[in-house]
Amino acid sequence: MQKMNRRHMLSVSAAALAAAVPATRALAANRSLIIRAEPSDVRLSGVDGPASQMMTYNGTFPGAEIRLQQGDRLDARLDNALEEGTLIHWHGIRVPNAMDGVSMLTQEVLSPRQSFEYRFSVPDAGTYWYHAHYLSYDQVARGLFGPLINTETHPPDVDRDITVQLLDLKIDASGRFDPDTDTSAFTTLGRIGNVQKAHLSDPQPVRIGDRIRLRLINTATDRIIAVQVTGLEGRLVALDGMPLAVPRDFDVVTLGPGQRADVIGDVTGEIILTDVREDAVILGGLSASGERSRRQGVVAALSSNPDVPLGRATQNVELVMQGGAGGAAHRGFAGWAFNDQSGLSGQPLVRIERDTAMTIRLVNATGWPHAIHLHGQHFYEIGTDGSIGDYRDTTLLEPGQTRIIACQFTNRGRWLLHCHMLSHQADGMVTWIDVT
Ligand code: C2O
Ligand code: CU
Repeated sequence: MQKMNRRHMLSVSAAALAAAVPATRALAANRSLIIRAEPSDVRLSGVDGPASQMMTYNGTFPGAEIRLQQGDRLDARLDNALEEGTLIHWHGIRVPNAMDGVSMLTQEVLSPRQSFEYRFSVPDAGTYWYHAHYLSYDQVARGLFGPLINTETHPPDVDRDITVQLLDLKIDASGRFDPDTDTSAFTTLGRIGNVQKAHLSDPQPVRIGDRIRLRLINTATDRIIAVQVTGLEGRLVALDGMPLAVPRDFDVVTLGPGQRADVIGDVTGEIILTDVREDAVILGGLSASGERSRRQGVVAALSSNPDVPLGRATQNVELVMQGGAGGAAHRGFAGWAFNDQSGLSGQPLVRIERDTAMTIRLVNATGWPHAIHLHGQHFYEIGTDGSIGDYRDTTLLEPGQTRIIACQFTNRGRWLLHCHMLSHQADGMVTWIDVT
């Protein structure tokens, strides 16, 4: 208890956080939170629907937004009030390795009734998220995730800054969460839901002429979502938290599980978000009411994050994705594998010295798409012509596709590299890189 008195504490409820975040601050300030992972009753099908037993952070589904300013320090105590172990991973944040929240690699699984203090600062501005990283195919599906937003020191001029958590829920005929114990889909597209929704942090109507920022986060365990936004003349300004040097005209942005995109644009009418990956599914939106005169001038690039210059690669490795239904039989594994290894090995894929660069040739030798995520640092997608492309933490490969990524490893430690389709990860598509 003594410890608790020393600390300035907040619980992560949306209202508490909103109230706790002043609009502007001259100095980076320390932020303390308690995040309680707990079983909670959630009405997934609306207030009149039946309650489902979910897992939440502080009772909120989906998880409340943690909003920091670039450079802030976060001090978050995870209290495990579940009946099983858990851990939090801070997806896309360049944390010290011991704060990365990966079982078997960076920390022990936190047992029920235990607590763990995550302490780190956030070097990069942008749209990130936090989620469970133990039995994540189940714990994330049950609600253990939320947005982590690091605002720029010089934020863009917008009327509204709205976080959009894209949800893919599996709901049974009674309107309750469907735990879907059939794991046969794990070797195909993974666990795909039957109810898709966009959860908006601020659902108030917009005015025509407003300039708004949408921070899209694909929180689905396995579903790829191609988001189309109508009612907005928008430009794509960031991918996976990292600003684009030159914003792009925006029509549809495809997001694999774990990927994010920031869009800034001017409202021209009712905002509707649709997933157009397969049959068009309306995810949600914002009604328009009232009008204001539009800003002059196009959407500019966001202020850039600390530069991580890409050196000449000292190693070039290949990572072949294997397995899945309908694929060729592979040696000694069922499910999925990288380079004939299914599941986390005691040996890393590769060792590399800190502050050196490496290319990884990702080969999707399966009949299914995969979203490959690297912990602890971002990487560049390299174009087929050798050009340096987007700076991301997760890259989506369609069946049969090959892509080279190049990474300057700036962060020491044991970093997971895995498919962010969480059923694929559970079924073996996971390895790690040792940065010494
Ligand atoms: Cu978003 Cu290894 O995770
Ligand atoms: Cu996969």
